[in-house]
Amino acid sequence: MQLGVEPPALTSRQPHDIAPELHDAADRPAVIRAILAGIGDYLPEHIVTNDELSRTVATNDQWIRERTGIRQRHIAQPHETCAFMATRAAQAALANAGATAGDVDAIILATATPDQAFPATAVRVQAALGARGFAFDVSAACSGFIYALSVADAFIRTGQARGVLVIGSEVYSRILNWQDRGTCVLFGDGAGAVFLRRGEGNGTGADTGLLSTHLHSDGAYGDILYVDGATGRHDKPAHLVMNGKEVFRHAVTHMSETIDEALAANGFDHSAIDWLIPHQANMRIVDAIGKRLHLSAEHVVVTLDQHANTSAASIPLALSVAQADGRLQPGQLLLLAALGGGLTWGSAIIRL
Ligand code: UT7
Repeated sequence: MQLGVEPPALTSRQPHDIAPELHDAADRPAVIRAILAGIGDYLPEHIVTNDELSRTVATNDQWIRERTGIRQRHIAQPHETCAFMATRAAQAALANAGATAGDVDAIILATATPDQAFPATAVRVQAALGARGFAFDVSAACSGFIYALSVADAFIRTGQARGVLVIGSEVYSRILNWQDRGTCVLFGDGAGAVFLRRGEGNGTGADTGLLSTHLHSDGAYGDILYVDGATGRHDKPAHLVMNGKEVFRHAVTHMSETIDEALAANGFDHSAIDWLIPHQANMRIVDAIGKRLHLSAEHVVVTLDQHANTSAASIPLALSVAQADGRLQPGQLLLLAALGGGLTWGSAIIRL
């Protein structure tokens, strides 16, 4: 990954700070690791501020900022389809990795807003990139990127693929009820992508790459956040429906739980984390989780003020922003966590 040339703004926990027990790996057989080789994004050009929204629905900038932290969102124009944005983000991730479409064995695209029921948006991206291999979509709402990462990790570790594009791309503007102030102010459009490359490690927490993923779902809560119909570009309007308070409660609880299990599985204390990169739904959720982890705000990547909630795209977008401004540096430990409709939730730990 071609990381920023600026020195890190913060003191990062470099590999030499890793607990001694993580270094006793000399005699361990090599294990395959999925290495985060490149990151990219695409955001629609059109930006809608809170004030602009307040002209069409009974809301105001103060309520949105104080209850969510959101200041603006990017909204896709007709040509900015799920596939279009995903392709742009994927091209940026490949360029960032110094890779080409020829290095791609698989494309896994997380979205809740595909352009069509089928073919999968990932296959459209494959054609646009001129890539070979195989491509498919993953549907896990706002947790989709973590789910897709987990699947990509399995393909790489079992030797089924050496280079995998993992993309989150969403056009929630097409499934929002623009008369419902309880939901339409919360979401935005955009895409983020990472390119994962096969690498090797010792099977310890000192390894570079994806160290773990943990996934969960509970269909008993399927009715607190859902879309009431089909979502493709040519379908009749379908709308997102949410019981915000209930989802909020589950988000804090389950994201905290899955963060704890991720840290425990790797033998890490919360202090090992350089960057918490949570799903970007509500600043109050992010703050509550950061507080539980005893992480100061300087160790949490926040983009929801600029992007609002972009569902499966929010984590790769946040990764891309943090890379572009030089916050991400080699050796750092990233903790990713999300919760979304399903309910689905999960976490991932990555060392850069
Ligand atoms: O990405 C998937 C995961 N999604 C989430 O994690 C979202 C989780 N939920 C949330 O972020 C929050 O629950 C919301 C931001 C959706 C809502 O915040 P809240 O503090 O739970 O507000 P509320 O729904 O209880 O509404 C409080 C008041 C209500 O008025 P009354 O009944 O007290 O008079 C709402 O009608 O705020 C009113 N309200 C608004 N006022 C101005 C709701 N939406 C708006 C609005 N502008 N946009």
